[in-house]
Amino acid sequence: MKISFTINGIKRECNVNSTTRLLDLIRDDLNLTGTKEGCGKGECGACTVIMNDKIVASCLVLAYEADGAEIVTIEGLSDKNILHPIQEAYIETGAVQCGFCTPGFILATKKLLDEIPNPTEEEIKIGLSGNICRCTGYQKIIDAVKLSATKIAEYKRGEKVDTK
Ligand code: FES
Ligand code: FES
Repeated sequence: MKISFTINGIKRECNVNSTTRLLDLIRDDLNLTGTKEGCGKGECGACTVIMNDKIVASCLVLAYEADGAEIVTIEGLSDKNILHPIQEAYIETGAVQCGFCTPGFILATKKLLDEIPNPTEEEIKIGLSGNICRCTGYQKIIDAVKLSATKIAEYKRGEKVDTK
């Protein structure tokens, strides 16, 4: 069946069958390989994308459910070669080791900070509870979210260039 949707601000049309997962559509058909497959069953968050303003595990969503949807993947965050402040914060705090989990964590962080611009540590833990990292031990990721909040506030106050 043919579906149409917007991904990272670009309108796309694709043919999918009834069992194609959104994750496969994103990675295989659209070649947006920043979205990762870890567990394939909704437990690790590596496949996280934002769909219609909600965080979803793309391994659990069928592609046809994306018909008419607005989707953001990790590739949609940076502005050409300029990293999003959340991406900068993850690098600066050392919250990235192997990097496999990072796209999912960054999108979960974006959604969290869109809703709670200055979250407490507890709110950060809850906001990122759908994502698993095997490398970092999580403290640096929590630090990255706090630094992201600071950076985004600076951008909004006009102390740095505008961001999404
Ligand atoms: S691959 Fe989707 S949640 Fe793990
Ligand atoms: S940095 Fe390796 S799994 Fe998170």
